[in-house]
Amino acid sequence: MVRLLFALFVLLALLGDARIFLFILNRVVFGSHRHEKNPWTFLIFAAPPLLLLLTLLFWPLNLFIARLMSTRLVERIAPARAESVLWSADVAKIGAVWLIAASAVGLLWVVERAHALGVRELPLSGIETLPSRVVRLRRAHIPFRSLQRLGAHNDVYDIEVTRSEVFVDDLPDSFDGYRIAFLTDTHVARFVRRAFYRAVLEQVRDFAPDLVLFGGDFVSWHRDIPLAADLLTAGLQPRDGIFAVLGNHDYWTGAKEVIDAFGARGVQFLVNRSVRLRRGSDTLTLAGIDEVYRGEPDVGTALSGLDPHEPCIGASHHPDIIDLLDGRRIDLLLCGHTHGGQIRLPFFGAVVVPSRHEGEFASGFHRVRSVLMYVSRGIGAIPPIRILCRPEVATFVLRSGKRSN
Ligand SMILES: [Fe+2]
Repeated sequence: MVRLLFALFVLLALLGDARIFLFILNRVVFGSHRHEKNPWTFLIFAAPPLLLLLTLLFWPLNLFIARLMSTRLVERIAPARAESVLWSADVAKIGAVWLIAASAVGLLWVVERAHALGVRELPLSGIETLPSRVVRLRRAHIPFRSLQRLGAHNDVYDIEVTRSEVFVDDLPDSFDGYRIAFLTDTHVARFVRRAFYRAVLEQVRDFAPDLVLFGGDFVSWHRDIPLAADLLTAGLQPRDGIFAVLGNHDYWTGAKEVIDAFGARGVQFLVNRSVRLRRGSDTLTLAGIDEVYRGEPDVGTALSGLDPHEPCIGASHHPDIIDLLDGRRIDLLLCGHTHGGQIRLPFFGAVVVPSRHEGEFASGFHRVRSVLMYVSRGIGAIPPIRILCRPEVATFVLRSGKRSN
């Protein structure tokens, strides 16, 4: 019984170690947004061995329990004897303290997840989510559905077209039914099947959007910029054009080259600026806010001249932009960057999400004050593995009417 309890403690402590490491990775290092200059970046490499070492200190403690169990009862209950067995080595004390602390963190994580899965969240008002469509390019699949549900399948070539209707206050009737296709984090690379990108674009064209919006992170490597520009604009001629914001990878690979290559194919970049979409005398504002890692996000400039009574559609690469909006109204803010966690675990969900909000804004709709934010899982993957997290072509139809409708 004592052994079983001890094993449970060790298991929870290992979970706690994992949770502490994820906190450091997601929030402390990448959540800082400028992680190359972050003094804590070294913890990505230092924390795992340190946490494991602390947990391995359970072994001396285990030996002491073994000794305790092997002694006779009368000796065991003798205070002096118990004292000498349990606390005779400092290392065992550290092991015991860490075991309790880390297992408490692990237990809290399990309870949190069980609560999140058990509580059925009320749907946000003003949104109608329609059934999505899945296009599977990979022919070979793991035969058992139950195994697939546990994550024994790479989703990297299974495209999911998600469909949402969003009710927008004060939306002019002429924009009722306005169609937006949002593609983000395409991370176009030569080793990914071209047919995959062609299938993505086919889904966008089938949707017949009024507007196509790119959320940044077009490529992971500089050499792929021309290829990305060719593949991602093929046959796209939406009535109001193609717009884009930049992602952190675009800055790393070459923002100017990305803007030039896509600009030559008609893509307009919204770096802290807005445009007015027109239907007769009616207008709808589309604003792009620069990226938080390497860009210079300037919400005031991006939304300047915008009347708070006017509807606004926004885009920015990273969902952490939500912290800079300061109560501004954005009726639909489209973001990416998280890849939805990319590798989701059964029960634990999205674990690696480089954001100061960690998994809170990993994907889907979130209403934060006057902003309705949608975080897309995006298209690409680094490395090319997606578990329980399909690539996403996100489509939206705007509806005029109160959110409460
Ligand atoms: Fe990104």
